[in-house]
Amino acid sequence: MGTHVESFWIFALVSKCEAFSLASIAWVVFFAWFLMSLIFWAYPGGPAWGKYRWRKASPSASMGKPIPGPRGFPVVGSMKLMASLAHHRIAAAAEACGAKRLMAFSLGETRVIVTCNPDVAKDILNSSVFADRPVKESAYSLMFNRAIGFAAYGVYWRTLRRIAAAHLFCPKQIKASEAQRAEIAAEMAAMFGENTEPFRVRDVLKRASLSSMMCSVFGRKYQLDSSNNEAHELRTLVDEGYDLLGTLNWSDHLPFLGDFDPQKIRMRCSNLVPKVNRFVTRIIAEHRARTTEKIRDFVDVLLSLQGPDKLSDSDMIAVLWEMIFRGTDTVAVLIEWILARMVLHPDVQSRVHDELDRVVGESRAVAESDITAMEYLPAVVKEVIRLHPPGPLLSWARLATTDTTVDGYHVPAGTTAMVNMWAITRDPKVWLDPLEFKPDRFFGMGADADISVFGSDLRLAPFGSGRRVCPGKTLGLTTVTFWVASLLHEFEWKPLDGNNNVDLSEVLKLSCEMEKPLTVQVHRRRTTLSLSP
Ligand code: HEM
Repeated sequence: MGTHVESFWIFALVSKCEAFSLASIAWVVFFAWFLMSLIFWAYPGGPAWGKYRWRKASPSASMGKPIPGPRGFPVVGSMKLMASLAHHRIAAAAEACGAKRLMAFSLGETRVIVTCNPDVAKDILNSSVFADRPVKESAYSLMFNRAIGFAAYGVYWRTLRRIAAAHLFCPKQIKASEAQRAEIAAEMAAMFGENTEPFRVRDVLKRASLSSMMCSVFGRKYQLDSSNNEAHELRTLVDEGYDLLGTLNWSDHLPFLGDFDPQKIRMRCSNLVPKVNRFVTRIIAEHRARTTEKIRDFVDVLLSLQGPDKLSDSDMIAVLWEMIFRGTDTVAVLIEWILARMVLHPDVQSRVHDELDRVVGESRAVAESDITAMEYLPAVVKEVIRLHPPGPLLSWARLATTDTTVDGYHVPAGTTAMVNMWAITRDPKVWLDPLEFKPDRFFGMGADADISVFGSDLRLAPFGSGRRVCPGKTLGLTTVTFWVASLLHEFEWKPLDGNNNVDLSEVLKLSCEMEKPLTVQVHRRRTTLSLSP
């Protein structure tokens, strides 16, 4: 809705111009619009913040001092901050504006705040005011507003989280899927072991994590080394959804572009949705056709719900699809970073090997129960998550549902809030030697040995924190740690050439991946080829 002040300005000018031609009126309107755009833009944080302040300006309004931040450009604001490696650009802008605790910027008409400080991050993520997610057109088109990640904070979202926590992410369920993770680890080891030439690890890791999620969610088991049509189709659907959700959609922030769909995002979403619907509906129908009552996977769980928890078919599709979607790439991306660090730091790799030899021994494969007896490997995993959090901006932002105060600044309802976890985990005021890869900081008597990565300490919260913390965090970390242990137990990981060169450049999609996929050579460590624990 336009402001009274703006409308008044424009109509007053137009009424004065009756005597003029249509072209002159158009010029006057354009000039008025241009002038207003400049006025809005002049405000700290740029046009969206200026517009808000201008609209709300009244003698009674007490909005306090403005949040510092870059103005960007008139109308579009700081869209360029979100291009390419947004976490780097935002961190640099916050440093330049002296606004690491809290910075304001505009993405077109969207007001954004971002923090690079753990205390402010805690205030934001743990506040019920920020328990909602901002609307993204692609998320809505892809039905994610009916799944956990983008559902509005309320009864429906709470019900979904409760169901998922009880039947997919609870310790009993994670334990029950141990055998399937072990089977996939053995398949991966067999596939990697076949390579006599250097090879890329990413494709196999993505297949493995997709296969693991497919087992838990759909009860489907795909052989990693066989080309299964259904698995291939699903991979294509996940990749397309991943790309769509990871793309900054200009229409989300500049509503006047909405009708034009300049990046063809709407078109691609409407092509994808029927394919996803067909795929998931087919699997649901197969489950319904079963005669047994036994609950074997998450589809069975959703089908068994009764009363107020019962989901419609379309909601079920959204929930199932999201689980596959979220659980697949995050795990594969993190394992690739860990293996890259192992190649780059052979001394650290060799300490993990020593630990594996001591705890597991040469004669058998790793079991998940071995991980509890290991201290150094979990420290290595933590250190990699610290330097390469898969969601450097915590993947999905939060939305203020009411006016609130953050770090002493007034933040109006409807503001998008982000946490730059990447900047926090590299801040020398928060971490000693933050850019150095030092797993020892989390090991033994290390300064941060006891830190939890699950959201209680915002110095390292790669899974977010508060009500919308990642529900798959334990499953995700269990899978990552166990598969890394298995792969390191089986092989020594070496660089492509003898130079120990690994390119750690990043590319930010929905998760932050290695820009150049890791290419390695492996040498078998165990002579005994027992792939079972
Ligand atoms: C290494 C693995 C993973 C990482 C780093 C990760 C990270 C994250 C982050 C940062 C968030 C946003 C949290 C917030 O706003 O505070 C999130 C949300 C979410 N994650 Fe994960 N995740 C991982 C694995 C998984 C897995 C395995 C699943 C499911 C199978 C999953 C499902 C979800 C869902 C459904 C949400 C939305 C929660 C909500 O809005 O209520 N994640 N994840």
